[in-house]
Amino acid sequence: MAVIIDGKELAKKYRAKLKVKCDELKNKGINPKLAVIMVGNDNASQIYVKNKSKVCEEIGIIFEEYLLNENIKQDELINLIEKLNRDDSVHGILLQSPIPSNLNINEAFGKISPEKDVDGFNPVNVGKLALNQDTFVSCTPYGIMKMFESYNIDLTGKNVTIIGRSNIVGKPLIQCCLNKNATVTVCHSKTKDLNEHTKNADILIVAIGKSKFVTDDMVKDGAVVIDVGINRDENGKLTGDVDFENVEKKASYITPVPGGVGPMTIAMLMNNVIKATENAKL
Ligand code: GUN
Repeated sequence: MAVIIDGKELAKKYRAKLKVKCDELKNKGINPKLAVIMVGNDNASQIYVKNKSKVCEEIGIIFEEYLLNENIKQDELINLIEKLNRDDSVHGILLQSPIPSNLNINEAFGKISPEKDVDGFNPVNVGKLALNQDTFVSCTPYGIMKMFESYNIDLTGKNVTIIGRSNIVGKPLIQCCLNKNATVTVCHSKTKDLNEHTKNADILIVAIGKSKFVTDDMVKDGAVVIDVGINRDENGKLTGDVDFENVEKKASYITPVPGGVGPMTIAMLMNNVIKATENAKL
C-alpha cells in the first residue's frame, strides 16, 4: 500500500509560515496585495477564485477582485492589466483562465509585469524557468516539487512521465523535473502506446482532466503517482485522473483527490505573492 501524500496538511504548514512572513511585512507597513481578474462566469473559475480569496484572508493578503463582463474588448483587459502594473500597492496580478475565446489570453499574460506575475505565465518567467533561474514558478508544478521535497523523493536519474502538455501544468513541470535531474517523458493525446511510457515511470504525473484515466495496469510497481486532475464522476463525487483505489495498492506514494495537489497549488500562489511583495520592497 502506498504512502498517501497529504497535500492538505503540507499546505497548512506552508500557509502558517507564510502568515508569519506576511505579518512581518505588515509590521513594516507593507500590505501584500493580490489583484485577481476574472472575465465572464466560468463556474469552475468562480470556485477556484473563491478558494484563493479565502486563503488570502487566512494569511492576511489583501485580495482585490476584478470581475469583467464576458463582452469586454481585448484592449480594455490590457488597459486594466497595465493600470495594475503601475499601481505600487498591488504586488501580484492573476488573470484567471479560461477567458472567452475571442480574447487573446497569451497576449494578456505577456502584459502582466514579470515582477507581479505570480502565476509564472509571462514568457519572461517561462524563459527563466527554462534556464533554471530564480523566477515565479507556476503554482501547480511548484506545489508538486514541494511535495517531492517534503517526502524526500529524489528525482535524480528517475524516469518521470508526465501525461498532459498544458502551458499551466505539463510544460512547466518538464522544466521543474529536468532542473532536478530527472529523465522526463511527456505524453499527450497523440502519443503512441501510452502504457509503454507510463509503465516505465518511476514517477508518474497525470494532468489530463479525465476521471480515473490511469488504471493500475498502467503503473509500475512502487511508482510515485501524482494526480493533478479534479473531475466529477457520474455520481457527482470529486475524483482525480487516477483510479486511486486500485493504483494505491501498487504505488509507493500517491496523492489523493481532494486533499493532494489542489491545496498545494493555492499555498504556492500565496508563496509567490509574498515573494513578489518582498522583491518589490528591495
Ligand atoms: N485556471 C486553472 N488553473 C489556473 C491557474 O493556476 N492560474 C490561473 N490564472 N488560471 C487557472
